[in-house]
Amino acid sequence: PAGMEPSQVAIIGSGLIGCSWAMVFAAGGFKVKLYDIAQQQLTSALENIRKQMKELEESGFLKGALSAEQQLALISICTDLRAAAEGATFIQECTPENLELKKKIFSQLDLIVDDNVILSSSTSCLLPSKLFTGLKHVKQCIVSHPVNPPYFVPLVEIVPHPETDPSTTERTYALMKTIGQSPVKLNREIEGFVLNRLQYAVISEAWRLVGEGLISPTDLDLVMSDGLGMRYAFIGPLETMHLNAEGISNYCERYREGMRLVLNTFGPVPEFSGEIEQKISQAMSEKIPVVPKVLDARRKRRDEYLTGLAKLKKQMKSD
Ligand code: NAI
Repeated sequence: PAGMEPSQVAIIGSGLIGCSWAMVFAAGGFKVKLYDIAQQQLTSALENIRKQMKELEESGFLKGALSAEQQLALISICTDLRAAAEGATFIQECTPENLELKKKIFSQLDLIVDDNVILSSSTSCLLPSKLFTGLKHVKQCIVSHPVNPPYFVPLVEIVPHPETDPSTTERTYALMKTIGQSPVKLNREIEGFVLNRLQYAVISEAWRLVGEGLISPTDLDLVMSDGLGMRYAFIGPLETMHLNAEGISNYCERYREGMRLVLNTFGPVPEFSGEIEQKISQAMSEKIPVVPKVLDARRKRRDEYLTGLAKLKKQMKSD
């Protein structure tokens, strides 16, 4: 319900993902307290956010109804965890992917918070049962896994601990909708959640095909970017099946045997090391040298593509 939505959130950790969450929440009109251990980190994070917001505003891609200045005014920084959590009804943790560190932070928060605040982690791989077991407020704990860069890629995987209260899941889901993200609910935890399981399925077959010398690394990437990816930006694999025949059952009738035949030729899980790693690394480095300047330029280009795609999806009201 709208009345229950939090108006103030805390972001714990002001790195890449923490800054993105701060921008997404500010765009949604929320007051944001950004916490980190070092004042210097916070000052440069805020400067970075300011710069990004100004650029987005100039190019017409700033999210939300408020101006960049108004959004910036919603964000404050602090190095005191208790002060950061004070008044927040939703706390998004964005510290480095380290179980011991995250557990320490959640146990500190566990002592500070009341029975209403939601404690949410951005973790990409750590399971809720590893992060939250034993906390007094485990019912209020959840994983909200974003996709980089969250400002343009809206998906958030919501993953509960076995003891998470259903209302925590529902409130988190509703909050993500309110700020314009695209939440999905997992009914229970699983290694890799769903996004990375799909991603790793693609990566492993890509690795095997290139490793076998069946296709070049650059052509492999084209199969996705100029092939599969074109439709996956708008419709998922299940709808693709549904539309590629007269519905799912007709698709299965037509293709189940063929699919099983192909799937049975898949190789084992790759080592992701040795000769194949060398080969793929060499090919990719020829195209994109591994130097910060070049990588940053390519990342900027990637974000421009994603900005354009986000705009297109909005125009076309894709669901
Ligand atoms: P990052 O290294 O850019 O930022 C981490 C921040 O945490 C730094 O500002 C650091 O100063 C701060 N920090 C370190 N110790 C702290 C403490 N004790 N208390 C408060 N802050 C502390 O990392 P990044 O990339 O932002 O990742 C954060 C989380 O988001 C990780 O769990 C990561 O797995 C997850 N994630 C990252 C994605 C990515 O593509 N980078 C995508 C989705 C999730």
